[in-house]
Amino acid sequence: MNHPLAQRFDGAAEILAEIDSRIPDTRDYGAETRATIDTYHPKRLQLVVTDVIDETATTKTFRLERRDELELPPFLAGQYVNVFIDGTSRPYAISSSPARLDHYDLTVRRVPNGRISNLLIDTVNVGQVLTTTGPMGTFHHNPLFHGSDIVFLAGGSGVAPAMSMIREIADIGSDRTFHLIYGSRNASDIIFRAELDAIAAAHPGIDVDHVITEPDIEWTGAAGFLTADTIRTLARGLDNRMVYVCGPQALYLYALEQLTALGQPRKRIRFEANGAPSDPTAQAHWPADVDPAEEVTVTVAGTSFRTPRNRPLLDALEDNGIRPEAACRSGECSLCRVRVVKGAVHTAEEAKPRLSDAQFGYTHSCVAYPITDVEIDL
Ligand code: FES
Repeated sequence: MNHPLAQRFDGAAEILAEIDSRIPDTRDYGAETRATIDTYHPKRLQLVVTDVIDETATTKTFRLERRDELELPPFLAGQYVNVFIDGTSRPYAISSSPARLDHYDLTVRRVPNGRISNLLIDTVNVGQVLTTTGPMGTFHHNPLFHGSDIVFLAGGSGVAPAMSMIREIADIGSDRTFHLIYGSRNASDIIFRAELDAIAAAHPGIDVDHVITEPDIEWTGAAGFLTADTIRTLARGLDNRMVYVCGPQALYLYALEQLTALGQPRKRIRFEANGAPSDPTAQAHWPADVDPAEEVTVTVAGTSFRTPRNRPLLDALEDNGIRPEAACRSGECSLCRVRVVKGAVHTAEEAKPRLSDAQFGYTHSCVAYPITDVEIDL
Protein backbone atom coordinates (compact mmCIF):
# COMPACT_ATOMS: atom_id res chain seq x y z
CA MET A 1 0.00 0.00 0.00
CA ASN A 2 1.83 3.10 -1.22
CA HIS A 3 -0.72 5.66 -0.25
CA PRO A 4 0.88 8.35 1.97
CA LEU A 5 -1.81 7.84 4.60
CA ALA A 6 -1.20 4.11 4.90
CA GLN A 7 1.67 4.42 7.40
CA ARG A 8 0.38 7.39 9.34
CA PHE A 9 -2.84 6.15 10.96
CA ASP A 10 -3.73 2.87 12.63
CA GLY A 11 -6.05 0.93 10.36
CA ALA A 12 -5.53 3.28 7.41
CA ALA A 13 -3.98 0.54 5.26
CA GLU A 14 -7.00 -1.74 5.79
CA ILE A 15 -9.46 1.05 5.00
CA LEU A 16 -7.59 2.02 1.84
CA ALA A 17 -7.42 -1.63 0.77
CA GLU A 18 -11.18 -1.93 1.22
CA ILE A 19 -11.75 1.23 -0.83
CA ASP A 20 -9.53 -0.21 -3.57
CA SER A 21 -11.46 -3.48 -3.57
CA ARG A 22 -14.87 -1.83 -4.03
CA ILE A 23 -16.71 -2.41 -7.28
CA PRO A 24 -16.48 0.85 -9.20
CA ASP A 25 -19.72 2.86 -9.25
CA THR A 26 -20.72 2.85 -12.90
CA ARG A 27 -24.23 4.19 -12.47
CA ASP A 28 -25.17 6.93 -14.88
CA TYR A 29 -26.60 9.42 -12.42
CA GLY A 30 -27.23 11.96 -15.17
CA ALA A 31 -29.40 9.52 -17.10
CA GLU A 32 -31.25 8.46 -13.96
CA THR A 33 -31.97 12.09 -13.09
CA ARG A 34 -33.12 12.74 -16.67
CA ALA A 35 -35.45 9.73 -16.52
CA THR A 36 -36.97 10.95 -13.24
CA ILE A 37 -37.49 14.45 -14.65
CA ASP A 38 -39.06 12.98 -17.80
CA THR A 39 -41.43 10.92 -15.65
CA TYR A 40 -42.74 13.87 -13.68
CA HIS A 41 -42.20 16.75 -16.12
CA PRO A 42 -42.29 15.27 -19.62
CA LYS A 43 -41.89 17.69 -22.50
CA ARG A 44 -44.33 15.69 -24.60
CA LEU A 45 -46.96 13.01 -23.99
CA GLN A 46 -48.72 10.85 -26.55
CA LEU A 47 -52.21 10.34 -25.13
CA VAL A 48 -55.08 8.37 -26.57
CA VAL A 49 -58.64 9.71 -26.47
CA THR A 50 -60.62 7.05 -24.60
CA ASP A 51 -63.91 8.92 -24.23
CA VAL A 52 -65.62 12.00 -25.58
CA ILE A 53 -68.33 13.30 -23.24
CA ASP A 54 -71.00 15.75 -24.42
CA GLU A 55 -71.26 18.20 -21.53
CA THR A 56 -73.53 20.81 -23.16
CA ALA A 57 -74.55 21.65 -26.72
CA THR A 58 -71.27 23.54 -27.15
CA THR A 59 -68.90 21.72 -24.79
CA LYS A 60 -67.16 18.36 -24.83
CA THR A 61 -64.79 16.69 -22.42
CA PHE A 62 -61.99 14.64 -23.98
CA ARG A 63 -60.68 11.88 -21.71
CA LEU A 64 -57.00 11.20 -22.37
CA GLU A 65 -55.04 8.19 -21.17
CA ARG A 66 -51.60 6.71 -21.66
CA ARG A 67 -51.28 3.76 -23.98
CA ASP A 68 -49.42 1.74 -21.34
CA GLU A 69 -50.62 0.87 -17.85
CA LEU A 70 -48.56 3.56 -16.13
CA GLU A 71 -49.97 6.55 -14.30
CA LEU A 72 -49.91 9.97 -15.90
CA PRO A 73 -47.54 12.58 -14.49
CA PRO A 74 -48.94 14.17 -11.34
CA PHE A 75 -50.41 17.67 -11.49
CA LEU A 76 -51.90 20.29 -9.22
CA ALA A 77 -55.61 21.06 -9.58
CA GLY A 78 -55.85 24.15 -11.79
CA GLN A 79 -52.95 23.28 -14.10
CA TYR A 80 -53.22 22.75 -17.85
CA VAL A 81 -51.66 20.75 -20.65
CA ASN A 82 -50.83 22.22 -24.00
CA VAL A 83 -52.40 20.31 -26.92
CA PHE A 84 -50.56 20.31 -30.26
CA ILE A 85 -52.81 20.26 -33.29
CA ASP A 86 -52.92 21.64 -36.83
CA GLY A 87 -49.53 23.35 -36.70
CA THR A 88 -50.20 25.18 -33.47
CA SER A 89 -51.06 24.47 -29.85
CA ARG A 90 -53.55 25.51 -27.19
CA PRO A 91 -53.52 25.19 -23.40
CA TYR A 92 -56.53 23.46 -21.83
CA ALA A 93 -57.09 23.19 -18.08
CA ILE A 94 -57.36 19.66 -16.72
CA SER A 95 -60.85 19.24 -15.27
CA SER A 96 -60.31 15.82 -13.72
CA SER A 97 -59.05 15.21 -10.21
CA PRO A 98 -55.32 15.06 -9.51
CA ALA A 99 -56.13 12.18 -7.19
CA ARG A 100 -56.95 10.05 -10.27
CA LEU A 101 -53.95 9.79 -12.51
CA ASP A 102 -55.30 7.12 -14.86
CA HIS A 103 -56.65 9.93 -17.06
CA TYR A 104 -56.71 13.66 -17.75
CA ASP A 105 -60.02 15.24 -18.75
CA LEU A 106 -59.84 18.30 -20.97
CA THR A 107 -63.08 20.26 -21.25
CA VAL A 108 -63.38 22.34 -24.40
CA ARG A 109 -66.11 24.84 -25.25
CA ARG A 110 -66.76 25.88 -28.81
CA VAL A 111 -65.57 29.46 -29.35
CA PRO A 112 -67.20 31.39 -32.22
CA ASN A 113 -64.55 31.42 -35.00
CA GLY A 114 -62.18 29.59 -32.65
CA ARG A 115 -60.05 27.51 -35.02
CA ILE A 116 -58.75 25.01 -32.49
CA SER A 117 -61.75 24.64 -30.17
CA ASN A 118 -63.95 23.93 -33.20
CA LEU A 119 -61.38 21.57 -34.70
CA LEU A 120 -61.17 19.57 -31.47
CA ILE A 121 -64.94 19.42 -31.00
CA ASP A 122 -65.72 18.59 -34.63
CA THR A 123 -62.94 16.17 -35.51
CA VAL A 124 -61.38 14.46 -32.48
CA ASN A 125 -62.80 11.01 -31.77
CA VAL A 126 -62.19 8.07 -29.46
CA GLY A 127 -59.01 6.24 -30.42
CA GLN A 128 -57.21 9.29 -31.74
CA VAL A 129 -53.79 10.06 -30.29
CA LEU A 130 -53.06 13.65 -29.22
CA THR A 131 -49.66 15.10 -28.46
CA THR A 132 -49.59 17.25 -25.33
CA THR A 133 -47.08 18.70 -22.94
CA GLY A 134 -46.96 17.52 -19.37
CA PRO A 135 -49.01 19.49 -16.83
CA MET A 136 -47.93 23.11 -16.38
CA GLY A 137 -49.08 26.45 -15.05
CA THR A 138 -49.16 28.45 -11.84
CA PHE A 139 -52.93 28.78 -11.44
CA HIS A 140 -53.28 26.18 -8.71
CA HIS A 141 -54.01 26.14 -5.03
CA ASN A 142 -51.08 26.79 -2.71
CA PRO A 143 -52.24 26.27 0.88
CA LEU A 144 -49.29 28.19 2.31
CA PHE A 145 -50.08 31.41 0.47
CA HIS A 146 -53.76 31.03 -0.42
CA GLY A 147 -55.12 29.55 2.79
CA SER A 148 -57.80 26.89 2.85
CA ASP A 149 -60.90 29.00 2.27
CA ILE A 150 -61.34 29.72 -1.41
CA VAL A 151 -63.85 31.66 -3.50
CA PHE A 152 -63.74 30.87 -7.23
CA LEU A 153 -65.47 33.07 -9.83
CA ALA A 154 -65.88 31.11 -13.05
CA GLY A 155 -67.42 31.97 -16.39
CA GLY A 156 -68.23 29.42 -19.11
CA SER A 157 -65.50 26.81 -19.59
CA GLY A 158 -63.44 28.65 -16.97
CA VAL A 159 -65.13 26.22 -14.61
CA ALA A 160 -62.71 23.47 -15.72
CA PRO A 161 -59.89 24.22 -13.20
CA ALA A 162 -62.51 24.76 -10.45
CA MET A 163 -63.96 21.34 -11.27
CA SER A 164 -60.53 19.78 -10.81
CA MET A 165 -60.13 21.53 -7.43
CA ILE A 166 -63.61 20.47 -6.28
CA ARG A 167 -63.15 16.88 -7.43
CA GLU A 168 -59.86 16.75 -5.56
CA ILE A 169 -61.44 18.00 -2.32
CA ALA A 170 -64.16 15.36 -2.68
CA ASP A 171 -61.69 12.59 -3.57
CA ILE A 172 -59.22 13.13 -0.76
CA GLY A 173 -61.69 14.31 1.89
CA SER A 174 -59.87 17.62 2.36
CA ASP A 175 -61.20 20.02 4.98
CA ARG A 176 -60.54 22.94 2.59
CA THR A 177 -63.62 25.09 1.99
CA PHE A 178 -64.44 26.12 -1.55
CA HIS A 179 -67.20 28.37 -2.86
CA LEU A 180 -67.77 28.30 -6.60
CA ILE A 181 -69.77 31.19 -8.06
CA TYR A 182 -70.29 30.15 -11.63
CA GLY A 183 -71.72 32.42 -14.33
CA SER A 184 -73.37 31.00 -17.47
CA ARG A 185 -75.59 32.47 -20.14
CA ASN A 186 -78.51 30.11 -19.50
CA ALA A 187 -79.23 26.95 -17.53
CA SER A 188 -78.47 24.62 -20.43
CA ASP A 189 -74.99 26.16 -20.75
CA ILE A 190 -73.92 25.14 -17.24
CA ILE A 191 -71.09 22.64 -17.55
CA PHE A 192 -70.89 19.83 -14.94
CA ARG A 193 -74.14 21.04 -13.34
CA ALA A 194 -75.35 17.68 -12.01
CA GLU A 195 -71.95 16.67 -10.60
CA LEU A 196 -71.25 20.10 -9.10
CA ASP A 197 -74.61 20.14 -7.34
CA ALA A 198 -74.20 16.53 -6.13
CA ILE A 199 -70.72 17.19 -4.70
CA ALA A 200 -71.91 20.40 -3.02
CA ALA A 201 -74.84 18.53 -1.45
CA ALA A 202 -72.54 15.81 -0.12
CA HIS A 203 -69.67 17.97 1.15
CA PRO A 204 -70.37 20.67 3.77
CA GLY A 205 -67.19 22.59 2.82
CA ILE A 206 -68.18 22.97 -0.83
CA ASP A 207 -70.72 25.55 -2.01
CA VAL A 208 -71.80 26.01 -5.61
CA ASP A 209 -73.91 28.91 -6.84
CA HIS A 210 -74.98 29.25 -10.45
CA VAL A 211 -75.58 32.75 -11.80
CA ILE A 212 -77.44 33.02 -15.10
CA THR A 213 -77.41 36.09 -17.34
CA GLU A 214 -80.39 35.07 -19.51
CA PRO A 215 -82.67 33.07 -17.19
CA ASP A 216 -85.93 31.56 -18.37
CA ILE A 217 -89.07 31.70 -16.25
CA GLU A 218 -88.22 28.40 -14.54
CA TRP A 219 -84.89 29.64 -13.20
CA THR A 220 -85.05 30.29 -9.46
CA GLY A 221 -81.38 30.91 -8.70
CA ALA A 222 -79.23 34.03 -8.96
CA ALA A 223 -79.46 36.00 -12.19
CA GLY A 224 -77.45 38.70 -13.94
CA PHE A 225 -73.71 39.28 -14.10
CA LEU A 226 -71.16 38.55 -11.39
CA THR A 227 -71.62 41.99 -9.87
CA ALA A 228 -70.17 43.15 -6.55
CA ASP A 229 -73.64 42.82 -5.01
CA THR A 230 -74.09 39.27 -6.30
CA ILE A 231 -70.63 38.22 -5.12
CA ARG A 232 -71.16 39.80 -1.69
CA THR A 233 -74.58 38.21 -1.28
CA LEU A 234 -73.55 34.72 -2.40
CA ALA A 235 -70.10 34.62 -0.77
CA ARG A 236 -71.48 36.21 2.41
CA GLY A 237 -68.47 38.52 2.60
CA LEU A 238 -65.01 37.86 1.26
CA ASP A 239 -63.18 38.46 4.54
CA ASN A 240 -59.82 38.53 2.78
CA ARG A 241 -60.34 35.02 1.40
CA MET A 242 -58.34 34.23 -1.74
CA VAL A 243 -60.46 34.70 -4.86
CA TYR A 244 -59.61 32.81 -8.05
CA VAL A 245 -61.02 34.01 -11.37
CA CYS A 246 -61.16 32.00 -14.60
CA GLY A 247 -63.29 32.56 -17.67
CA PRO A 248 -63.49 34.49 -20.91
CA GLN A 249 -61.27 37.54 -21.24
CA ALA A 250 -64.13 39.97 -20.67
CA LEU A 251 -64.58 38.53 -17.18
CA TYR A 252 -61.15 39.59 -15.93
CA LEU A 253 -61.39 43.35 -15.97
CA TYR A 254 -65.04 43.19 -14.93
CA ALA A 255 -64.31 40.86 -12.00
CA LEU A 256 -61.38 43.02 -10.91
CA GLU A 257 -63.63 46.10 -10.81
CA GLN A 258 -66.32 44.28 -8.83
CA LEU A 259 -63.88 42.73 -6.36
CA THR A 260 -62.07 46.03 -5.90
CA ALA A 261 -65.41 47.68 -5.17
CA LEU A 262 -65.85 45.09 -2.41
CA GLY A 263 -62.50 46.09 -0.92
CA GLN A 264 -60.75 42.88 -1.93
CA PRO A 265 -56.96 43.54 -2.07
CA ARG A 266 -55.40 42.83 -5.49
CA LYS A 267 -52.91 40.42 -3.94
CA ARG A 268 -55.84 38.26 -2.76
CA ILE A 269 -57.15 37.82 -6.33
CA ARG A 270 -55.66 35.25 -8.72
CA PHE A 271 -56.43 35.32 -12.42
CA GLU A 272 -55.86 32.41 -14.76
CA ALA A 273 -53.97 33.77 -17.76
CA ASN A 274 -56.19 33.40 -20.77
CA GLY A 275 -54.80 34.12 -24.18
CA ALA A 276 -53.44 37.12 -26.01
CA PRO A 277 -55.45 40.36 -25.79
CA SER A 278 -58.35 40.33 -28.23
CA ASP A 279 -57.52 43.90 -29.20
CA PRO A 280 -53.92 44.99 -28.49
CA THR A 281 -54.67 48.39 -30.01
CA ALA A 282 -56.97 49.13 -27.07
CA GLN A 283 -53.97 49.12 -24.75
CA ALA A 284 -52.70 52.54 -23.74
CA HIS A 285 -49.16 52.04 -25.03
CA TRP A 286 -50.21 50.89 -28.54
CA PRO A 287 -48.71 53.60 -30.79
CA ALA A 288 -51.48 55.92 -31.96
CA ASP A 289 -50.08 56.62 -35.42
CA VAL A 290 -49.86 53.10 -36.91
CA ASP A 291 -52.47 51.12 -38.83
CA PRO A 292 -53.01 47.81 -36.95
CA ALA A 293 -54.05 45.93 -40.09
CA GLU A 294 -51.11 47.05 -42.21
CA GLU A 295 -48.54 44.32 -42.93
CA VAL A 296 -44.91 44.51 -41.82
CA THR A 297 -41.98 42.20 -42.58
CA VAL A 298 -40.69 39.70 -40.04
CA THR A 299 -37.23 38.25 -40.65
CA VAL A 300 -36.11 35.18 -38.74
CA ALA A 301 -33.45 32.55 -39.35
CA GLY A 302 -32.73 33.87 -42.83
CA THR A 303 -36.33 33.91 -44.06
CA SER A 304 -38.85 36.75 -44.21
CA PHE A 305 -42.62 36.92 -44.32
CA ARG A 306 -45.33 39.55 -44.10
CA THR A 307 -47.90 39.71 -41.31
CA PRO A 308 -50.36 42.29 -40.00
CA ARG A 309 -49.26 44.36 -37.01
CA ASN A 310 -52.19 43.15 -34.91
CA ARG A 311 -51.30 39.43 -35.22
CA PRO A 312 -49.26 38.01 -32.32
CA LEU A 313 -45.72 37.20 -33.42
CA LEU A 314 -46.11 33.60 -32.23
CA ASP A 315 -49.15 33.07 -34.45
CA ALA A 316 -47.38 34.75 -37.36
CA LEU A 317 -44.37 32.46 -36.91
CA GLU A 318 -46.62 29.38 -36.80
CA ASP A 319 -48.51 30.62 -39.89
CA ASN A 320 -45.16 30.39 -41.65
CA GLY A 321 -44.19 26.95 -40.40
CA ILE A 322 -41.92 28.17 -37.61
CA ARG A 323 -42.80 26.75 -34.22
CA PRO A 324 -41.01 28.12 -31.18
CA GLU A 325 -41.68 26.27 -27.93
CA ALA A 326 -44.87 27.70 -26.40
CA ALA A 327 -47.41 26.75 -23.76
CA CYS A 328 -49.64 29.32 -22.04
CA ARG A 329 -50.03 31.68 -25.04
CA SER A 330 -50.83 34.33 -22.45
CA GLY A 331 -47.45 35.93 -21.74
CA GLU A 332 -46.93 34.03 -18.53
CA CYS A 333 -44.72 30.96 -18.97
CA SER A 334 -41.98 32.67 -21.04
CA LEU A 335 -41.39 29.57 -23.19
CA CYS A 336 -42.07 31.53 -26.39
CA ARG A 337 -39.46 34.22 -25.76
CA VAL A 338 -37.74 35.61 -28.84
CA ARG A 339 -35.04 38.27 -29.08
CA VAL A 340 -35.84 41.35 -31.10
CA VAL A 341 -32.67 42.12 -33.02
CA LYS A 342 -34.06 45.00 -35.11
CA GLY A 343 -37.32 46.95 -35.15
CA ALA A 344 -40.05 47.59 -32.58
CA VAL A 345 -42.74 45.38 -31.10
CA HIS A 346 -45.72 46.17 -28.92
CA THR A 347 -45.50 43.87 -25.90
CA ALA A 348 -48.96 43.55 -24.41
CA GLU A 349 -49.76 44.28 -20.77
CA GLU A 350 -50.45 40.58 -20.33
CA ALA A 351 -46.74 39.72 -20.64
CA LYS A 352 -44.92 38.82 -17.46
CA PRO A 353 -41.33 39.41 -18.57
CA ARG A 354 -38.31 38.83 -16.39
CA LEU A 355 -36.17 41.84 -15.56
CA SER A 356 -33.43 40.50 -17.82
CA ASP A 357 -35.82 40.20 -20.81
CA ALA A 358 -35.97 43.95 -21.33
CA GLN A 359 -32.25 44.28 -20.69
CA PHE A 360 -31.35 41.77 -23.41
CA GLY A 361 -34.14 42.58 -25.86
CA TYR A 362 -36.42 39.56 -25.34
CA THR A 363 -40.18 39.60 -25.68
CA HIS A 364 -42.90 36.98 -25.24
CA SER A 365 -43.94 36.31 -28.81
CA CYS A 366 -47.45 35.09 -27.88
CA VAL A 367 -48.38 38.59 -26.72
CA ALA A 368 -46.01 40.69 -28.85
CA TYR A 369 -46.97 42.49 -32.05
CA PRO A 370 -44.57 43.77 -34.72
CA ILE A 371 -45.05 47.51 -35.04
CA THR A 372 -42.30 48.01 -37.64
CA ASP A 373 -40.37 45.57 -39.84
CA VAL A 374 -38.58 43.37 -37.33
CA GLU A 375 -35.74 40.90 -37.23
CA ILE A 376 -35.86 38.32 -34.46
CA ASP A 377 -33.77 35.49 -33.07
CA LEU A 378 -35.44 32.35 -31.78
S1 FES B 1 -46.36 30.77 -24.58
FE1 FES B 1 -46.19 31.26 -22.46
S2 FES B 1 -45.35 33.28 -22.48
FE2 FES B 1 -45.77 32.84 -24.55
